[in-house]
Amino acid sequence: MLEPERIVRLEPDAVVVLDQRLLPLEEVELRCRTAADVAEAIKTLAVRGAPAIGVAAAYGLALAAARGDDLAEADHVLRSSRPTAVNLAWALDEMAGDPSAEHARTLHAEEVERCRRMAAHAAELFGPGTRALTHCNAGGLATGGYGSAVGALYAAWEAGLLQHVWIDETRPLLQGARLTAWELEQAAIPHAVIADSAAASLMAAGEVDCIVTGADRIAANGDTANKIGTYSLAVLAKHHGLPLYIVAPTSTVDLRTADGGAIPIEERDPGEVTTRFSARNPAFDVTPAPLIAAIVTEVGVHRAPYEASLAAAVAA
Ligand code: MRU
Repeated sequence: MLEPERIVRLEPDAVVVLDQRLLPLEEVELRCRTAADVAEAIKTLAVRGAPAIGVAAAYGLALAAARGDDLAEADHVLRSSRPTAVNLAWALDEMAGDPSAEHARTLHAEEVERCRRMAAHAAELFGPGTRALTHCNAGGLATGGYGSAVGALYAAWEAGLLQHVWIDETRPLLQGARLTAWELEQAAIPHAVIADSAAASLMAAGEVDCIVTGADRIAANGDTANKIGTYSLAVLAKHHGLPLYIVAPTSTVDLRTADGGAIPIEERDPGEVTTRFSARNPAFDVTPAPLIAAIVTEVGVHRAPYEASLAAAVAA
């Protein structure tokens, strides 16, 4: 398992990230010397995943403070780097009163600790011999350490409850095939990468017991934005009578967003889909709360209706 500081850390003159664009073929560190460099690393997915971009942004602000840069400008460039994951704004709000390196490191450590706690709660949802399906990458790489949905898989594996993991390759940027597969290989958890479109037939064949994903933003009513394709899985899960579990820290819960319709969805460069033809590239979709069997945060397992339970978790 990757150490948190290997994924993202603050040095006196740089925020250093493991460049996720090159994984799993190359393990190369990218040194970001300004907040604008960190924003570019977030935008281009060198560092990605909702909690991890929050942590990177916190370090970016601390770097700007150490350099004596304009903090309002640094906050703006970081905040506007990606629109969907609310952890980015959450982390910058947390840093506003105290943009010190120590504060950013504490925020990072707390996010990893939240992952461990929610993973333990999520593992309670697994029965013996579970064959889970996951989408995108919600592992240590995406959270700055341990992982949310992948953390749940680690905890279930350690409890002897997990048999096998199906990993959606996650088009167009293959976070599943490149990053989740790499992390599960390192943990020696049995897994197989599948084409996203293979999920339905595996469910129909009775080879999937549950679907476990992370989240980029959870609205007050439980509607959840996550990597494009999660909504398709939710509809498929409903049809096949399978539970979809969302595992995410309270830093991903956005009580100021009433429902999924108000979540901004990032549209990325169509060239990530194809450079030969006209294309469209929404990077996230929204799964309506009624399609989610449970949302798991570090506070515990939340069941519908989610409003009161999520609000209490954020306040805890
Ligand atoms: O575009 P990405 O790779 O940043 O998208 C990431 C996801 O959608 C993850 O599933 C989500 O951030 C949860 S990570 C714990």
